[in-house]
Parts: sequence; structure tokens; C-alpha cells
Amino acid sequence: MPVEHAIRATGLTKRYGDFTAVDGIDFTVNRGESFGLLGPNGAGKSTTMRMIAAVASRSAGTMSVAGLDPEQNGPEVRARLGVIPQQDNLDEELSVRENIIMYGRYFGLPRRWLNAKTEELLEFAQLTHKATARVEDLSGGMKRRLTIARALVNEPEILLLDEPTTGLDPQARHILWDRLFRLRESGTTLVLTTHHMDEAEQLCERLIVVDQGRIMAEGSPAGLIRDHSTREVLELRFGLDRNQEQAQQLTTLLSSAPAPSNGRASSSGSASGVGFSHVEVLPDRLLVYAGSAESALEQIHAAGLRPMTSLVRRSSLEDVFLRLTGRTLVD
Ligand SMILES: Nc1ncnc2c1ncn2[C@@H]1O[C@H](COP(=O)(O)OP(=O)(O)O)[C@@H](O)[C@H]1O
Ligand SMILES: [Mg+2]
Repeated sequence: MPVEHAIRATGLTKRYGDFTAVDGIDFTVNRGESFGLLGPNGAGKSTTMRMIAAVASRSAGTMSVAGLDPEQNGPEVRARLGVIPQQDNLDEELSVRENIIMYGRYFGLPRRWLNAKTEELLEFAQLTHKATARVEDLSGGMKRRLTIARALVNEPEILLLDEPTTGLDPQARHILWDRLFRLRESGTTLVLTTHHMDEAEQLCERLIVVDQGRIMAEGSPAGLIRDHSTREVLELRFGLDRNQEQAQQLTTLLSSAPAPSNGRASSSGSASGVGFSHVEVLPDRLLVYAGSAESALEQIHAAGLRPMTSLVRRSSLEDVFLRLTGRTLVD
């Protein structure tokens, strides 16, 4: 009987001794969806991925992957998954092409089929020109693409990507994102972890925000921002030791500005529609949450306050995380 969901976990828990790395989380990944786990280092993302991939046992809870329990049906589950671990584990002794072929042999794929599939995957990973190169001669981005190509050799229904672009330079990240978009369009279910909010915004249709083994929020990137932040943010610098005292003053000033409900921008377009919510103090700057950051800045200038720098931007998932946990995502 076909199941609707690709993955479903309930009460999923992983304990190491008396430390709880994953603390009873529930989530469902739908078929064909691109689903993310966003959270800082130590949140329990890799541990969760290892339990999905049938390489770590769980301490409590239930898990279904393609309708199967990874603990009962490890080999069957692994045959239907493509796994990209946080650290590349390519065979450095082998060439790029041989890495894919050897991996395909583990799955017992017929040789002729595998050879054709390997050339297709080299093409997909934009590594055809590197087919005979040794892995150690590849750049970080190329290694990551080879790891993805290799994980696709068994035509998996679900691809698990643990921090796919961490450590890559911006150009290499964008090439990789483009490949992942293509996989998404082809209908592969993607499950990825990241501590980069821009990656989550780019790649995930839906995500859970995780921290200390727990789910803090769930939704689409846009939905999470709508529910947990204002439309815009005004970033101000007043000088290192003045940020805290200014925060109080700004809160008093902007709280008296007309505030539409939910702290969102009023559609009336009135100049005073600041939609102020609150101020966050970071070590190096202040974040003013408001529906219209431009209007907030006007009020601040009108009150005679002179920040050293000011920047108006849209809210991001970083702001959602800060709101939910009081901490920043990237350490
Ligand atoms: N094998 C292990 N033994 C003990 N603690 C572990 C082990 N693996 C992970 N942890 C701990 O569990 C927590 C979550 O780790 P991890 O799942 O790797 O987080 P993330 O991938 O989100 O950075 C961390 O505090 C980590 O130190
Ligand atoms: Mg990790």
C-alpha cells in the first residue's frame, strides 16, 4: 500500500548517556517536497539525519521512511535513500568516475546500466571533464558535487543532504544550489540540514527550526517570517558602548508611533505607519523590528538621534531564529 509521506517521525529521541541530542521531535516530510532542518551547531540535525538513514539507532519514538522502519529494514531503507553526509567520505584513491562506479556496485547494479548512469551523473554534476582526475585534486565544491552524484546512482526517492554547502565559497554554493533546484524539479524528495538561513530560504519549501534537540517552529520560509518577525528590520550602529542605552530610548520613541496590528506595515501608506515591534541588542548593532524600517528611521532622525550607520532590510530566517531563541544562528 503506497504511503503519502516520504518520512514521518513521532517522538523521535536520541540520548547519548544522560545527554539528550534529539528530544522527542515530530515531523512529516511529504513526497516530492524539499524539507529543511535549520538550526545552529549542536542542534541535533546530523543525529536526526543518521536516524533517518538507518545508521544510528533511536532511543525512543517512531520513524517511517518510504513506509519502512529504518531499524527493522535498514538495507531496504538505504537502497531507497541517497545520503550526503556532513563530511565527504569519497575514496581518495580512486578517480572521480571510479567513485561513482564502485558505489553503484555496492547496490549490485548491472555493469552496463551503471556505466551509462555514471556518465549521466558526471554530466549532471558538471564533472565530465574531471572524470579521470583523482579526488584529492578536486576543489571543495567539486567534491561535494561528486558526493551528490554518487548518492544518486541508485536513483533514490529521497535525498538526505547534511549541510550540503558548508565550507564552500559563494560561487561554489550557487553552482550546487542550481543542481539541487534541478533535483527538486525532477520530483526527488530533498531533506537537508543547514545553519545558513539563506540556504534554507533558497532551497526549502518547508522547514523546521531546531535548537537543542527541539523543534522551535515549523512552516515555509515566508510563513515563518510572517509569523515570527516583522516585514522589515532596521539595523543601527551607535557605537559599541551606546547600543544598550539607545535601545531603551528607541523603544520608548517608536512605541508611541502609530502601530498597525501584528507590527506589520500598514497598507494605508501613511508616513507614520512604522509598525514597530521591538528592538534586539546584538554585540555590534541594534535591530529595530518594524513593518516599515524606512518610517522608523525617519522617526529616529526626527527625534534628533544620529546613528553612525543604518541599514534597511527585509526580515530573514535569521530574525526568526533570534526571536525564537534569543541567539543568532551562525556562531
Ligand atoms: N556520538 C556521540 N556521542 C555523544 N554526543 C554526541 C554524539 N554525536 C553527537 N553528539 C552530541 O549531540 C548534539 C547534537 O549533535 P549533532 O546532531 O551533530 O548536531 P548538529 O548536526 O545540529 O550540529 C551535540 O551536542 C553533539 O556534541
Ligand atoms: Mg551536523
